[in-house]
Amino acid sequence: IKQQFSDELSAVKSRDELEKIRVAFLGKKGLVTEELKNLRNLNAEEKKVAGMQVNMLKNEIEQAIVDYQKTLEEMEYQKQIESAERYDYSIPSEVEVGTLHPITIVQKKIEDIFKTMGFIIEDGLEIQTEYNNFEAVNIPKNHPARDMTDTYYLENGQLLKTHTSASQNTIMKKYGAPKPGEPLKVLFPGRCFRNENIDASHENTFFQLEGMMIGEDISISNLIYFMKALLTEVFQREVKVRLRPGFFPFVEPGFELDINCAICGGEGCPTCKHSGWVELLPCGMIHPNVLSMGGIDPDKYTGFAFGLGLTRLAMMKYNIKDIRLFNSGNLKQLRQFTK
Ligand code: PHE
Repeated sequence: IKQQFSDELSAVKSRDELEKIRVAFLGKKGLVTEELKNLRNLNAEEKKVAGMQVNMLKNEIEQAIVDYQKTLEEMEYQKQIESAERYDYSIPSEVEVGTLHPITIVQKKIEDIFKTMGFIIEDGLEIQTEYNNFEAVNIPKNHPARDMTDTYYLENGQLLKTHTSASQNTIMKKYGAPKPGEPLKVLFPGRCFRNENIDASHENTFFQLEGMMIGEDISISNLIYFMKALLTEVFQREVKVRLRPGFFPFVEPGFELDINCAICGGEGCPTCKHSGWVELLPCGMIHPNVLSMGGIDPDKYTGFAFGLGLTRLAMMKYNIKDIRLFNSGNLKQLRQFTK
């Protein structure tokens, strides 16, 4: 039996074949099992000797099968390795280089413009306290501007900032009152969130770019000067602007600066809601309450603030008619904008 087993085993090439041999020798009607059954025909003395021999044989065969199983597995593994794909690391990569997002391009451009005018760039948090987003910018509890449905609240009572103005207080506290002749000039771009119904001109996630200048005698004419400088640089042409009074609790007086819609040339399109004008630059003189909450004495200092709709500006600059493109991840379209 032993000889027969080792002959048959050496011909085995797969696990199926191995299993067949196992059954043939150790199965219910297997050769070894039959030998064990035959033991009952022997007398006690013979049984003892033969029993030992058959059991040894059985153990040997069991062990041989287990060992062979391992050998087979290793062989299969080797085969897999040999047939696996091979890489040639010396072949030049074909991965394309990405491009900046159009909003990033416009943001960087404006940052550069303001840096040359002495502004510091600050980064604001996206998750904010109610205090920073509302109270600190003069929007008390129960103020209509705090419309619950507009804001994404988190379970811990914080919220996703609804405007970049949420950073005003933190920045004022960080830099403190400006030194004489050295007004505080800060630019702070950021991603903002509002619970909007999304369509071609509304998104729940969009970018603003806010700026502040605080000093001893900052006036509306400073504000107008900087806004004009900004828009001329961005559009590289003389843009038509329209200034309307605007209400924001954190500025007094407040303005809405509109620019003529470059997409339709003033004819009317979905971007300008068919009016020919795009609301682009809300701004105003910082409210005394906001200054004092930021630790800056409103009797000594004044300042202006503006909150540029960066996403809208990018739409106008690149003639993008649907705001949804920006968050779409549609690279084919997004990578067209390079400058
Ligand atoms: N925070 C205002 C908004 O979200 C914009 C703004 C900023 C207005 C600064 C005036 C001054 O719309």
